[in-house]
Amino acid sequence: MYRFRRLRRDERIRSMMRETRLHPKDFMYPIFVIEGEGIKHPVESMPGVFQYSIDRLEEILKQVEESGIGGVMLFGIPQHKDPQGSQAYAADGVIRKAVRFIKEKYPQIYIVADVCLCEYTSHGHCGMVCGEEILNDETLPYLVKMAVSLAKAGADMVAPSDMMDGRIAAIRAGLDQAGLTQTPIMAYSAKFASAYYGPFRDAAHSAPGFGDRKSYQMDCANGQEALREIRADIEEGADIVMVKPALAYLDVLKEASLTFPMPFAVYNVSGEYAMVKAAAERGWIDERRIVTENLTAMKRAGAKIIITYHALDAVKWI
Ligand code: PBG
Ligand code: ZN
Repeated sequence: MYRFRRLRRDERIRSMMRETRLHPKDFMYPIFVIEGEGIKHPVESMPGVFQYSIDRLEEILKQVEESGIGGVMLFGIPQHKDPQGSQAYAADGVIRKAVRFIKEKYPQIYIVADVCLCEYTSHGHCGMVCGEEILNDETLPYLVKMAVSLAKAGADMVAPSDMMDGRIAAIRAGLDQAGLTQTPIMAYSAKFASAYYGPFRDAAHSAPGFGDRKSYQMDCANGQEALREIRADIEEGADIVMVKPALAYLDVLKEASLTFPMPFAVYNVSGEYAMVKAAAERGWIDERRIVTENLTAMKRAGAKIIITYHALDAVKWI
């Protein structure tokens, strides 16, 4: 009989046998930056998460710097929205300003700028709209403008989350033309049309005003298609590819990470965070153990980068 338990006898040997170990550099922390002044507004469905105006941003940036995590991911909440999402690429747009502020005050922090229009469009969709249709090719130039504008402002990396076809190639070409050949693209490649994004849409004021995102985000039943999406983004020039959400899609992450020799990111999304927080608040689960277990599972499944709202807590627990 093989005795597996020999190597589980106490923590000394268990810790030597551990196959997966979490490290602060595994994590990226999403931050919601809202236009305005003096704002630190709690997101009700995401306990511990706030919207910050730029003048209050340092409160969280200090914690980020001390934590030693890999970087931050920035989402903007503009005051003014229009059908073209013009604040997404405006010279004085909220994320451009936030990027410049962080670069100046916290140059050590690695900044990933989300590239998508839904926080900036009056209709709340991730692209241009004609009637009820979300246009693909017409949207690409706007995404390119946004990516170039944020990279020029100093973002270290751009992360398109819109799911339009062909956007990675378009953004790569746009960045290169602007001389930004060294700016990497982290592509939300297999982004599923998920109910788990609910709390984020409260946080980012980005719920679609009509219909849903099912004509551009992926059907949650599709694993093979996810591999094709990821392959397409790699061919178009993505530097890092992402699977999103995390927990219900670890099969996709695992298979994709075994298939493609690429750095993989996974997004532990708002709804996943909200469920853990809600159960923990009631004392029904042990938050620290559950979070560590979930994040370990994401890394075990192949994630190189884990984008998570738990990041600042997790570094204290691992
Ligand atoms: C915007 C975007 C969303 C998320 C990241 N970027 C929401 C959406 O697609 O509706 C979700 C993140 C989360 O739920 O934490 N395209
Ligand atoms: Zn979007």
